[in-house]
Parts: sequence; structure tokens; C-alpha cells
Amino acid sequence: MSSRPAPASVQNPLPKATAWETLQVLRDVELPMIAKGPIIRRPKVVGAVERLGIEGRAVKRMQAVSEKYGRGPLMLAVPGKNMATVLDPDDVHRIIEETPEPFATAETLKRHALKHFQPKTSLISHGEERTQRRQLNEQVLDNGHPIHRMAEKFVPVVQEEADELLRLADSKGGTLTYPDYLDAWFRVVRRVVLGDSYRNDKQLTELTERLRARGNFAFLRPEDTEGRDELIRQIRAALEKGEPGSIAEFMNNVPKGDDAVPEQQVPQWLFAFDPAGMASIRGLALLASHPDRMAEAREQIQQESQEKAPLLQRLRGTVLESLRLWATTPMILRETTTEVEFEHGVMPQGTTVLIFAPFFHRDDRNLEFAHRFAPEIWDKPRTREDWPLLPFSGGTGICPGRHLVLLLTSNFLATIISKRQVELTSHSLEPGNLPSLLNNYRLEFQLRP
Ligand code: HEM
Repeated sequence: MSSRPAPASVQNPLPKATAWETLQVLRDVELPMIAKGPIIRRPKVVGAVERLGIEGRAVKRMQAVSEKYGRGPLMLAVPGKNMATVLDPDDVHRIIEETPEPFATAETLKRHALKHFQPKTSLISHGEERTQRRQLNEQVLDNGHPIHRMAEKFVPVVQEEADELLRLADSKGGTLTYPDYLDAWFRVVRRVVLGDSYRNDKQLTELTERLRARGNFAFLRPEDTEGRDELIRQIRAALEKGEPGSIAEFMNNVPKGDDAVPEQQVPQWLFAFDPAGMASIRGLALLASHPDRMAEAREQIQQESQEKAPLLQRLRGTVLESLRLWATTPMILRETTTEVEFEHGVMPQGTTVLIFAPFFHRDDRNLEFAHRFAPEIWDKPRTREDWPLLPFSGGTGICPGRHLVLLLTSNFLATIISKRQVELTSHSLEPGNLPSLLNNYRLEFQLRP
């Protein structure tokens, strides 16, 4: 009787953490992330995590694990699930470049979380369907271009809404708070994505938020199929309208495959503009606490003031730094579609691969700028030879909306800082030693003419 040879991942396994080490990683790294809300944040938990410095503990835990096990991917001892954490910068580059085969973006937990509001989004699709959906996203969001081809339509919208925000702050004695900032930001988002008539359609944003709150519980909560159908119906109607000057209009005019499902790509955008709001207001806090950087940004605004859609690289670098220091997608998840060979062993098929971005972003053993604000590091595009910094992921699964996000956030910030002096009143940031988390919900500023 011939027996099948054991799979390579059994014959030549990767190193595995002990049960206790696995528990420590789950407690210090995974748990705070799940508690904060992976799909929509829970403000009270974010506040507690900031106060207790819990995010810093997560990076230290990963550093301790890497000191013991070196650089190879490390399997975690999670019962019933193959799970590995990535410790080597080269492995990070490899995994994001070898996406979606054999490292699929459609990882199981992510699929369960996102299906609550967008079961056919590219991120959790695979094979030909993923190819078509990713392609549509890339085209419409203008993935390859720092300045979206419709930028000249979008920039005036950003400026109008930022001006309106400044008027509101003036009416409150110059106080700028996060809720007011976010309201203004989402007016920009709805106008840019769907069209001007959606400016005040807060119910659409709220419906998305309700469904995202279910997404926080992944498979532990049943799907609200009625709510989801309603969201998709409203988005389909907006696409059919295709209001002039909106991405909806642009989307109607690009060629797409039969499986592209445009109306199921848009919820990801509405969802992902929320962290863009967080990142940009944290960027404002960084500028307010670094007067020399504020002066550089203002000078650049002045230099580019004749451009209809300025690049504003220093402000883009500011938002990127905000995302490096306080990543809004801290865990990049992949799932292996086959066994994968690494230098130290073979990873089994169906392994959830965890890339914990803050471990690389805030690694003070390797980065001199780990805990300070260094917008100049983003002046040149980062390559495979550079240390991995992944605010927008990278490789073939890189966020196709990153340039659009940076265009809109940088212009939003530009309007604010070119018209007001900005003082951060809620926090006192220590430039050389920035905190492991900055609670965006508590940020408050005093604006002066
Ligand atoms: C600060 C804001 C944002 C951040 C930090 C961010 C970050 C990311 C990251 C890390 C991923 C990869 C996720 C993964 O591999 O699991 C991703 C994917 C994606 N993002 Fe963003 N994103 C942001 C905003 C946006 C916006 C505003 C849009 C659209 C307008 C967008 C569109 C997408 C899409 C469509 C994907 C899926 C790509 C794929 O299927 O391969 N993102 N984003």
C-alpha cells in the first residue's frame, strides 16, 4: 500500500511560536486592534488605547518576538487556523509583490468583515473577478497619477468645504473640533464621489457606518441584507445619474468587464475616506506642533498658488507621515493559495499572513525617524530597496485610491493653514517622541486669523 508523502509544510515546517508567545501576540497586537474596531472605530476604546500607550506595547511585543526568532515568518500556535506573522522586511516586499498569487488579498476574516456592506468588492474577490474589479478601481481612481485627471473639478469643492468649516469654527470662537472637521470632510467626499446633490445626504454616510459597525464583528453578526441592498441601490442610482464633475460620471465612461460590479466597488471608497479624515486631522496636529514644518508647507502652498490642482508634496508627506506614525490599516492580511517556500521552511496553503505595519513603521532599532515627524522621507517614491513603509499597502495590491486621498487631503489642509494660524489645544506633542497613538476624536484646535 503506497501512502502519500506529507506536504512540504509538514516535512519542512516554518518555526512556530509557543502557545504562551502566541497568546502574548494575540493579546498585545491583535486584541487592541479588534477592540478599537477594525472596520469602524469605537471612539471610547481609541481613547483608552491612547491613554494606556497600548499601541507601543504591540510594537515592543513584535520586537521581542523577532529578537528571539530572527527574520523568518513565524507560525503562531492558533488552534484550528494556520496563521503566520512576518518579521523580515524582504518578506514584506515579497508578499506584497506576489499578490494575489500565492498571497491572496481575499483573506477569510477580511471577507467576513467586508461582506456586510460590499461582498463583491475587489479586495475580497479572487481570480478573474478580482482582476476586473481591481482594474475598474485602478482606472476610475486614476491609480497611476498623483494628480487625478478630474482634479481641477475636485479642488474647488475641497476649498469651498474647507472655507465653510473655517466659517463654522469662527462662529465658535475659533474652535475646531473633529466632529465638525469630519462633517466637512464627508461633504467633500460625497460631492467628489457622487456629485453636488449628495452634499447634505448624511443618511448615506450613516447607512454605510451602520453596516461597517456590523463588519467589526465579522462572522459573529448576521448580515443586514436589507440595509446592504439599500446601500447598493442608492449607489447604483447615483451612478446612473452620473452627476457632472463626480467620479460617478467618470465611472460611467470607462470600459469595464461583465464581472466588475461598479456599485459594489464604491462602498469601499466611502468607507476608506473615513480614515483619510483621521489621517489628515492628525496631520494638522503634526503641523501645528512643528512650526518649521508648518512654515515649509505654507511656503509650498504659496509657490504653487497659480496651479489649479497643486501637488503640495510637503502636505502629502504630512498625511503619509500621519499614516506611518498612526497607521489606519495597521494589519495587512493575506492568505496563501498554495504552499509557499521561505528560507527557513514552508508555509502551508490557507495560512493567514499578518503584516503588522507599525512593527516596521515605528521600528526604532532600524529607523532613526521612527518616533518623529519626517515628511521629507516621502519626497522620493519608495522602492523595494527601501525599508517597508506601508500606509497604503504596496506592491500589486497597493491602495488604488492613495493619490486621490493625498490630492484631496493636501488641498483641504492647504486651505486651512493658508487662511488661519493653527494651535493644537487638546494635546501637547513632543516632537522627538511622538505617542504610539493620537486619538483623533479628542483633537481640538484654536484657529486665529
Ligand atoms: C487614508 C486613507 C486610506 C488608507 C490608509 C488606505 C489604505 C489601503 C490599504 C492598506 C489597502 C490594502 C488593504 C489590504 O491589502 O487588505 C487599501 C486597499 C484599497 N483601497 Fe485604500 N486606503 C485609503 C483610502 C482609500 C480611498 C479614499 C479609496 C477610494 C476612493 C480607496 C480605495 C481602495 C481600494 C479599492 C482598495 C482595494 C484594492 C484591491 O482590491 O487590491 N482607499 N487601501
